[in-house]
Amino acid sequence: MKILVGNWKSNGTLKEKKQLLTALNKLKTKAKIVLCLPFTLLYGEKTKISIGAQDISLHPNGAYTGDISGAMLKAAGVKYVIVGHSERRKYHHGTNAIVKSKATTAIQNGIIPVVCIGESESEHKNGKAKSVIKKMLLESVPDNGDFIVAYEPRWAIGTNITPTKTEIESIHKVIFETLHKMNHARIPILYGGSINATNAQNFINLNYVDGLMIGRASLKSETFLPIIKNIN
Ligand code: PGA
Repeated sequence: MKILVGNWKSNGTLKEKKQLLTALNKLKTKAKIVLCLPFTLLYGEKTKISIGAQDISLHPNGAYTGDISGAMLKAAGVKYVIVGHSERRKYHHGTNAIVKSKATTAIQNGIIPVVCIGESESEHKNGKAKSVIKKMLLESVPDNGDFIVAYEPRWAIGTNITPTKTEIESIHKVIFETLHKMNHARIPILYGGSINATNAQNFINLNYVDGLMIGRASLKSETFLPIIKNIN
């Protein structure tokens, strides 16, 4: 089953969430849909879509002003959480060690972490993508438990530029092989970065691609539904 993860980032109101969920609930699809919402929108009505968060505290409940713990996310019905998104790594000092701890915390709370990795534009241009990706995997993924990996090249996020099909397939193969060597079999590997209804079809059926992570195009039913409808 293909997995589609929508990432709303710092966007969205209750009204917009309800509009999209109404449309998604009517849709027949074989794909697993996960919608990762901002904290303010996590609690809510029953839906057949899985709800995810975009970050998790390293700490349990307690004196950690501003933090949202794993227990709190679980109580809100959250099933997935994005960890290590490049924007968290960039603006909130998300090192590989912190990403790994957050992924581990999520698993301990029964939440599946979506661990994001991806190289910068200069690393891509200098042919370093594969070595960067391997290091990020070795240092960021949890030791045990269920998780998902999302390959999101930093230069493809929010830019309308994507890697070629060949590039995606070859990086995903490295991710697959590295996870295998780490004794992590059957971990789904998603591609993310400037996905839209047109390119989604090109990427979703590539070897080693188990799904997609979608930012801007997941915000509205007009752009998200056409992506989902094309997945078999
Ligand atoms: P984008 O974002 O689809 O808007 O490029 C993807 C992401 O950051 O997850």
